[in-house]
Amino acid sequence: MGAKCILVALAKDFSGNLQSGKAITSDHNVGEVAGSAATVAAIGSIAWYYHLYGRSVHAMTPAEEGLHPTNYPWEHVKFTKTFDHQTLRRGFQVYREVCASCHSLQRIPYRTLVGTMMTVDEAKALAEENEYDTEPNNEGEIEKRPGKLSDYIPSPYKNDEAARAANNGALPPDLSLMVKARHGGCDYIFSLLTGYPEEPPAGAVVMSGLNFNPYFPGTGIAMARVLYDGLVDYEDGTPATTSQMAKDVVEFLNWAAEPEMDERKKMGWKVMAIGLTLFGLSVWVKRYKWSTIKTRKLVYNPPMSKADLNPSSPRPEVRMESTKRQS
Ligand code: HEC
Repeated sequence: MGAKCILVALAKDFSGNLQSGKAITSDHNVGEVAGSAATVAAIGSIAWYYHLYGRSVHAMTPAEEGLHPTNYPWEHVKFTKTFDHQTLRRGFQVYREVCASCHSLQRIPYRTLVGTMMTVDEAKALAEENEYDTEPNNEGEIEKRPGKLSDYIPSPYKNDEAARAANNGALPPDLSLMVKARHGGCDYIFSLLTGYPEEPPAGAVVMSGLNFNPYFPGTGIAMARVLYDGLVDYEDGTPATTSQMAKDVVEFLNWAAEPEMDERKKMGWKVMAIGLTLFGLSVWVKRYKWSTIKTRKLVYNPPMSKADLNPSSPRPEVRMESTKRQS
């Protein structure tokens, strides 16, 4: 198509030149044709390249990727806000009483709970509920000891195979970094937990052993709905609705994935405050140092010529200057 255009243009050019009797090699025309050809070639190769490599390929349709979660106004995500630590405490309770029977939280040691959602004594008591292996003793025997603050929260299954065997072949993933691991983070997990319909919509195909959830890619998820109103008993009297528990556990999982968030934001504000002060100071110092240079006045004294010295010269200013110099 592009090549055809050039040919037509060339032909027109050629016949036009013959008719008017002008030389075909006139610089003007050659330049014009070369310019058009270069433009067409450039546009053509970009189009060809885009045709070959420019379009992204998707394995699934947007519907199969899962429904996009709603954007919820999470308080703790805001720039000036920290985690609500009462929420974290409630969320941990939900994790322990509901999710912990299937999902591990391998990256969280008991010590990190201290000061964020419970006291030292509470965390110690919690750790002692579980038994851990000791170091080998003098006979090489490994014994059991109660947990300590430095121990990690135990996993519900011995290994991934056991976890799959107990869950119809599906592996309940570790939740420590789940908020960071999924597109949509908090919004996605909240939508997932609260997004199970009473029954699948008409026409939806759900494989046996799976549950319909529009937010899960593919819509068939091995985890059934786990949160129901009143499932846990919050010690602070918060009504344990499905959405309340989902919100609490999601914020807790966000803490698990990002325990440094509160500190990071605090540090961020300090850096901004100190940085802005230093920046203001440096602007002032710059202006101070440059003030003499910027306010000085440069005067140009033109070199003297014979005309300057001539009293009848038509340039009185310059003459005045030169007489001044002579005095
Ligand atoms: C009865 C066991 C069970 C319980 C209880 C359970 N889950 Fe799951 N969960 C699963 C299984 C199995 C999967 C894997 C689903 C799959 O791959 O189809 C899963 C997957 C997930 C996923 C990952 C979804 C994804 O995008 O891959 C999240 C997040 C999750 N569960 C959160 C929770 C939370 C939070 C709780 C507690 C409120 C919870 N689960 C309770 C069994 C459970």
